[in-house]
Amino acid sequence: MSGATARPWWKDAVCYQIYPASFKDSNGDGLGDVPGILSKIDYLRDLGIDVVWVSPMFDSPQVDMGYDISDYEKVYPPYGSVKDMEDLIEACHQRGMKLILDLVVNHTSDQHAWFRESRSSKDNPKRDWYIWKPPRYAEDGNRLPPTNWRSYFSGQTWEYDEHTGEYYLHLFAKEQPDLNWENEATRKAIYDSAMRFWLDRGVDGFRVDVVNMYSKGVEFKDAPIVDPRFYEQPAWCYYANGPRMHEFLREMNAEVLKHYDAVTVGELPHTPDPSKVLDYVGASDKQLSMVFQFDIVDIGQGREHKYHFEEWKLPLLKGIVAKWQQFIDGTDGWTTVFCENHDQGRSVSRFASDSPAYRATSAKLLSLMLGSLTGTLFLYQGQEIGMINLPPSWPIDAYRDIESVNFYKTMAAQSQDDPAELDYVMRSLQILGRDNARLPMQWTGERHAGFTHGKAGPWMRVHDLYGEINVERQVREGEGSVLGFWRRMIAFRKEHAEVLVHGAFEGFGMGDEKTFVFGKKGAGGQRAAVVLNFSGEEQEVELPGYEGLVFRVGNYDDAAEEEKGVEAKSRKLRPWEGRLYLAGC
Ligand code: GLC
Ligand code: CA
Repeated sequence: MSGATARPWWKDAVCYQIYPASFKDSNGDGLGDVPGILSKIDYLRDLGIDVVWVSPMFDSPQVDMGYDISDYEKVYPPYGSVKDMEDLIEACHQRGMKLILDLVVNHTSDQHAWFRESRSSKDNPKRDWYIWKPPRYAEDGNRLPPTNWRSYFSGQTWEYDEHTGEYYLHLFAKEQPDLNWENEATRKAIYDSAMRFWLDRGVDGFRVDVVNMYSKGVEFKDAPIVDPRFYEQPAWCYYANGPRMHEFLREMNAEVLKHYDAVTVGELPHTPDPSKVLDYVGASDKQLSMVFQFDIVDIGQGREHKYHFEEWKLPLLKGIVAKWQQFIDGTDGWTTVFCENHDQGRSVSRFASDSPAYRATSAKLLSLMLGSLTGTLFLYQGQEIGMINLPPSWPIDAYRDIESVNFYKTMAAQSQDDPAELDYVMRSLQILGRDNARLPMQWTGERHAGFTHGKAGPWMRVHDLYGEINVERQVREGEGSVLGFWRRMIAFRKEHAEVLVHGAFEGFGMGDEKTFVFGKKGAGGQRAAVVLNFSGEEQEVELPGYEGLVFRVGNYDDAAEEEKGVEAKSRKLRPWEGRLYLAGC
């Protein structure tokens, strides 16, 4: 392989995800918008960001915050216009940055013109663009959906349409009908409208929403009953990673992506087997550039339902990191490094400590960990200042997300408002709920955290702690802040890319429940050792026996100046302390 083939630009990139509704409001209507994003591009450039990923800003009824698209070729008017997006693309390019969009083509909104036509009659030419099935009937004559599948947002995956007497499939909300990828005309229309339209305007690629669900499998059959309290049952094994998945992605690549040299990062839930993940990201097979494998963000989720929080211990996280670092060893695949996005609780609250004493230190610890791992690094807005989950005192009315709200309602109905059950639901939502990531970005200590300035007030409640955790304050604090640390870590990662971005990972003491120690080996003989204390007590760690390790980065301000330049073998780590050592660089 030539150097150019082995090292496409996106491997070294640091990407930053923007959630348009919550990033920055420019016109005071309480909702973030595209001009708001534009006003912060220099902030992102200064942080060291190479790629901006903008979550759906397309026209949409906003049932699922824009993941229900009614027109791929328009921008949701409150966010701005296609012209605003062109300006944003240009602003990124002028600064040597790239911009990628969300590609949401497993489903559309039920308000998309394609679906309106499809549902209009059984013989409409677009009928087959979505997945329609006749009802089943129980012995007592009751109408039943074609299968017992449970949707991601509670309830069934099938909606009965009185007008034509059939059900349509929706893996997500009933307002998000699934497109029928088996139909070639549908695929061509998707390529044109959702992809070429934006690639022709200069976007550099896509984050591909639920990329492994387009091929539903030939058989629609009932899922086994794992939760007898409900008719609907989890059924992802029937519709994820279906038989024609790879064929569809190869086609998408050959027909569209390769002509623009576009990068893709696919969202790949329900795929725990490394060989199956490699089937998507092997470079020679030309499907996706990389994927988000879900193990790390699934930590703590319940088996029966995502929002049945389960306690976990550090070796679980370490094992997951090791697995998805090492699965590319000796292959032509690539991996990603991330632990936040708009569907997840904040990493400081989930994986470290959001207590006032340690939240900044532990945010830096996570930065040290992520910044040293192999793969393309993705940050989510607010992660760079250590934003934390919404306060446990917030009631269900403060939540906005359809997934959380529907789950709460379902459990309230099922348990007849049992306080113990609802407490558990609220506790799980406070840790895992998607709204945790959707609170307005905390820019300043002023009213509404500087996110919006108008009378309308923000579309979603601002975190109570915005006065303490905000960009302005951290800029003032400089190097010692979480933001200052991330900036330094990103620069350091780029400077030592051979070992940090591309090196081979090895874990040490993987059973230890308090500390995480790992090493990295670069192709040119460089070595890195990272020691992390994931606890609020002092811990002793052994450093890997690499020759000539020198302390380089730590998350305690006073971190042992005396030690810089001195070879270390073992040392005590203070609460949530992390240190990075290098050799041969
Ligand atoms: C993905 C998105 C999520 C959305 C879902 C349906 O998982 O990240 O936010 O609700 O797809 O499009
Ligand atoms: Ca606005």
